[in-house]
Amino acid sequence: MSETPDIISSCARESNSVDTIAEKSSHSKENELASLRKANIALESRNFELREQVRQLRLQNAAAESQRDQYKREIKKLRDELNDYRSPPLVLGTIESVIDETHVVVRSTTGPQFLSRVSEHLDPKDIMPGTLCAMHLQSFSIVDILPPKYDCQVSAMEVMDTPTITYDDIGGLEEQKQLLRESVELPLRSPRLFETVGIAPPKGVLMFGPPGTGKTLLAKAVAHHTKASFIHVVGSELVQKYIGEGARLVRELFQMARERSPTIIFIDEIDAIGAARGNDSYSPGDHEVSRTLMQLLAELDGFDNRGDVKIIGATNRPDILDKALLRPGRFDRIIEFPLPDEEGRKTILEIHTRKMNLRKTVSLADIAKETEGMNGSELMAVCVEAGMNAIRTRRTTISSEDFSKALAAVKAGRTGIVVQQPDAMYS
Ligand SMILES: Nc1ncnc2c1ncn2[C@@H]1O[C@H](COP(=O)(O)OP(=O)(O)OP(=O)(O)O)[C@@H](O)[C@H]1O
Ligand SMILES: [Mg+2]
Repeated sequence: MSETPDIISSCARESNSVDTIAEKSSHSKENELASLRKANIALESRNFELREQVRQLRLQNAAAESQRDQYKREIKKLRDELNDYRSPPLVLGTIESVIDETHVVVRSTTGPQFLSRVSEHLDPKDIMPGTLCAMHLQSFSIVDILPPKYDCQVSAMEVMDTPTITYDDIGGLEEQKQLLRESVELPLRSPRLFETVGIAPPKGVLMFGPPGTGKTLLAKAVAHHTKASFIHVVGSELVQKYIGEGARLVRELFQMARERSPTIIFIDEIDAIGAARGNDSYSPGDHEVSRTLMQLLAELDGFDNRGDVKIIGATNRPDILDKALLRPGRFDRIIEFPLPDEEGRKTILEIHTRKMNLRKTVSLADIAKETEGMNGSELMAVCVEAGMNAIRTRRTTISSEDFSKALAAVKAGRTGIVVQQPDAMYS
């Protein structure tokens, strides 16, 4: 019987030890769980970090790719540029005739003619005789069509800055103003009117008269008032050194005018090329001038439709002009610019004294009476001289004596009486 309590006690001890074991194992599990949780949190944060890194790397990659593309484009551009530098220059030429869609005859600017092929990427509509083109140096095939080129001398003739002269700045010449407006401005502004009446509008106007009577001035006023392009040429500009150059200038001038139409071409001092062609003892220079005139006559005739191009010529030597230039059909209207009459002189004086500080005693009507036979430029000279006389005596108002002195000076200048120079002038 003494064994029983031992068993019980051993059982109790055992059960105690089982409890402690169970307790211990539950403890260790909790610890394990906690450490697993910790590890999980650490892994998740690591995962987040890595994802962020991946995102950043992707962004960097995209930026690098776009930069690479940009570099590629730059390389291509530089290569193209290098190829351009390496490629031989193109030869310029003018198409002379079109044989079929792919073959044309071209005259190169160096002289010889070629039967050339036309590059496929060119529009067949652009291939016309007279067109400027670029040819490959070796194959001479046409690779490009160029816009028409004008001599820079011709392009510079177009008046860009409108003159400030208006019709009101021109004294007298009422009839001339009227004639010029209806022959030049009216056909450009209302061509229908001429169609309705059934007459061909005038092609050109020739202004002639003594020097200083306002021919150039009136042309400037036309340029001021018109909306059309205005080309101003001085006859002597068309006289060139080399054979055929003058004629080429005239041709290009009219070509430019046609392109810019409506256009007014004003040829001042037309006698420089329009002088009558004699038949004896021609110098080579005269030949060149006469060739230029012939081209001008042909252009005035307008074998090509002249379009809305009007011509104004001006000269003070109508007597030496070639008859061919004066016949109707070239210059339809010939307008004379006479010396101003008394009324005209008064208005010219009024115009030139507009800004001057005149005394009340100055009578422009009296001055107009005394200036018989003077032209517009001399009347202007009288006004300027009168102003100078006032300045000389340190006055700001101009008296009638200033005008009388000025008149005497200008008249002396006209008659060739040289005012004696002071002796000490050059000493
Ligand atoms: N009718 C006018 N009204 C006002 N000023 C005039 C008139 N005529 C001439 N003048 C003055 O004379 C100057 C010279 O005139 P313009 O240049 O028009 O002469 P032109 O007839 O062309 O002479 P040329 O035949 O010598 O070329 C003008 O700048 C202007 O100041
Ligand atoms: Mg003039």
